[in-house]
Amino acid sequence: MSTLADHYRTAFVTGASTGLGRAFADLLLAEGVEVWGTARDTARLPARPRFHAVALDLADGAAAERVFHDADRAAGGFDLVINNAGYGAFGDFAATDFAVWQRQLEAMLVHTARLAHAALRGMLARRRGAQVNVASLAAEFPLPFQSAYNMAKSGLAALSESLMTEVAGSGVIVIDLRPGDYRTDFDGSVRREPAAFTPRMARVWEAFAAMMRSGPPPAHAAAALRRALLARRSGTVRTGRFFQARLAPLLSRLGSLRLRRRIQERYFNAAP
Ligand SMILES: NC(=O)c1ccc[n+]([C@@H]2O[C@H](COP(=O)([O-])OP(=O)(O)OC[C@H]3O[C@@H](n4cnc5c(N)ncnc54)[C@H](OP(=O)(O)O)[C@@H]3O)[C@@H](O)[C@H]2O)c1
Repeated sequence: MSTLADHYRTAFVTGASTGLGRAFADLLLAEGVEVWGTARDTARLPARPRFHAVALDLADGAAAERVFHDADRAAGGFDLVINNAGYGAFGDFAATDFAVWQRQLEAMLVHTARLAHAALRGMLARRRGAQVNVASLAAEFPLPFQSAYNMAKSGLAALSESLMTEVAGSGVIVIDLRPGDYRTDFDGSVRREPAAFTPRMARVWEAFAAMMRSGPPPAHAAAALRRALLARRSGTVRTGRFFQARLAPLLSRLGSLRLRRRIQERYFNAAP
């Protein structure tokens, strides 16, 4: 049976301290890949054979790119780069200070795209490699009161889609990974200001947090990514529970945007 190490010798995974990134790193290590995994504080990363702990904060794009290049050199050029790190910010767009949204867009879209750019150059020069950009089903079904998150994930998905065309025939593949709700630390780490919650926002938050708590474990997303990486083809991978990752995208293609918005509103208990 083919393993990931047959195709990928080295991997760089951002946000490897918890959740999906940790599950991706665990899977890669288990299959014999040497992994460089990042967190803002390396104390949060595991000490394991063939694992290299890297400090990386997406708040500073230039510093993050330097960190990436240093690791890339040490690895002799990454075969696989997974742009996974990210966080949520929950709030009313107008009532929240714009600096909150700007920081999130910079970290999760602009600086993440910068890493994608740096990684792709090396891969194209070597004519091999895979880049995975972890977007979200929020790119198709925007989460209420998480406007900058939705923008960042839609933008990242658009970047992956653009790159898939550009890299065709180059030996490099690009995967747009769109997870639904998974049981990770994400809901716990979402930045929010409960004091500023309206009753409607509190309802939406409860629905969102409950969906995350009842989602599949991160290893489920890692298994979906493994299949895509072994298939060695660029593409979009939706993963999560059946309704979110399969049925909703299908129904949404058949219905109108207005209908989709209505259903989304009910799903999150977000009606005014
Ligand atoms: N869980 C879900 O249901 C779900 C659904 C769709 C998409 N996603 C996406 O999947 C990715 C992973 O999410 P998760 O659920 O695994 O969340 P998580 O458990 O909270 O893990 C987030 C990871 O990102 C890192 N991170 C957060 N902010 C960062 C920053 N400013 N700079 C550098 N690293 C940062 C964290 O590292 P430290 O805090 O240790 O620095 C951590 O390793 C995110 O991009 C998220 O948007 C998640």
